[in-house]
Amino acid sequence: MSTIRTESKQAASDPTPGTGRVHVVTFGCQMNKYDSQLVEGRFRRKGWSTTDSLEDADVVLFNTCSVRDHAEERTMSWVGELKRLKKERPELVVGVMGCMAQRMGEEIFQRAGHVDLVAGTRQFAQLPTLVDEVRRRRAGGERQVRLTALSMDDRLLLDRDDEPYDGGVHAYLTVMRGCDLNCTYCIVPTVRGRVLSYPIDTVVKEARHYVAQGAKVLTLLGQTVNSWGEDLPAPAAGEKQWSGRQGRPGLGDLLRELQLIEGLERIRLITLHPSYITENFARAIAECDKVERFLPLPAQSGSDEILRAMKRGYTTDLYRKRVEILRTHVPDIELGSDWIVGFPGESDADHEKSEAFLREMGFLVNYIFKYDPRPGTKAHDGLEDSIPDEVKKERNQRMLKLGEELGLLRHGAHVGQTRRVLVEGVRDDGRLSGRTVHGMVASFEGPAELVGTQVDVCIEGASGYGMSGVLAKR
Ligand code: SAH
Ligand code: SF4
Ligand code: F3S
Repeated sequence: MSTIRTESKQAASDPTPGTGRVHVVTFGCQMNKYDSQLVEGRFRRKGWSTTDSLEDADVVLFNTCSVRDHAEERTMSWVGELKRLKKERPELVVGVMGCMAQRMGEEIFQRAGHVDLVAGTRQFAQLPTLVDEVRRRRAGGERQVRLTALSMDDRLLLDRDDEPYDGGVHAYLTVMRGCDLNCTYCIVPTVRGRVLSYPIDTVVKEARHYVAQGAKVLTLLGQTVNSWGEDLPAPAAGEKQWSGRQGRPGLGDLLRELQLIEGLERIRLITLHPSYITENFARAIAECDKVERFLPLPAQSGSDEILRAMKRGYTTDLYRKRVEILRTHVPDIELGSDWIVGFPGESDADHEKSEAFLREMGFLVNYIFKYDPRPGTKAHDGLEDSIPDEVKKERNQRMLKLGEELGLLRHGAHVGQTRRVLVEGVRDDGRLSGRTVHGMVASFEGPAELVGTQVDVCIEGASGYGMSGVLAKR
């Protein structure tokens, strides 16, 4: 205890901000993974180091998800685990940031009294300053600091061309933040705010930076990534005119620019929305052989009535038409979907329509979620969570099984063929793992030096989720 008091005194008399080791724990989607890297980068710039070990850390930050209750509960129990550590080392700073922080705000302090800092989804750049503030207040005698930073005003327009990443073959690149749609079940627009696209130059510069460091695969991230650019200012007369509305750039333009980057081998997209599928985007995929021929295009349901209640903005027919646009230009495109089962009012017949739609569209990858009412959403406030959990579970199982059956058929069609695979990593069991240009996962034996290269693999086996094979003789 005495050492801690001495440290506090030193900090109080020393106005220069303290540094140390920061450990970030990430929950939720790929955007959170990207943001965690961004936060670590901001700390490093201020002289901090990052550590993989919780025990070594001076600051522990939880980057959180709010999309389902389960995600929040899991996070809260992790945060709870730190209570003991904080008792042993009261100088430890514990912060909660991201989507759950944005949704719950001060409620987090009530549920976890040892948390010092709650920071929302547009505060990442400020985190080193906020942590300094916590330490300053503590040094000034405050026993339990409770600092919140929840403003959504920061547009997070950072210089990102020297952002560090984990250095592997793959890098995430958030091209837009937030969501302008209002699906009735979804908390994301509330916690992530309105759409903010990063300008084309910023994105290209950041992409070049990752590729120069060795990245071969870039995953472009956005909640509705194909709406990228719609909120950017229209170019003035005399400036370069792009293919979007009033000369704005659209995702197709961005893909064409990224295609030109030497050393970049693959461009992946997460996640698309049917409402923003355009001819120009489909054409760009056809033109750019680096763009993966797999698109996550969540349908959520195959029942028009449920889609209307979800306010997804399309019917199954409109969805089919969007896919037609894609298939006209890229006939071999593979699709993935998310599904919500047990949405309020979903009858057996509605559910069967979802199964039929999954079958009809032949989705390669399917993520299935049981409807979870999220406080603050229209569905939570206006619709009774009418489907019993057993029914949700049963529908979930049925969808999973169907997805697996179809996945087996689609992967199985490649057995006996040789397919080009971009090797992305070594699995825990020592086998190499990569993806074909259609986003299909393939594993095989081979030397680790092959990671980051494209190789031919003779496909010998398939499952619902991928393929296995052997390296083709060269
Ligand atoms: N922007 C993406 C989805 C982001 S959230 C899109 O529109 O497709 C990821 C997935 O979580 C969603 O596709 C949906 O299937 C699921 N999800 C979101 N809110 C949910 C809720 N309240 N209950 C169950 N699943 C939910
Ligand atoms: Fe949520 Fe709908 Fe926006 Fe996706 S499109 S993030 S489901 S509101
Ligand atoms: Fe979760 Fe936020 Fe992503 S709610 S799914 S971490 S955008």
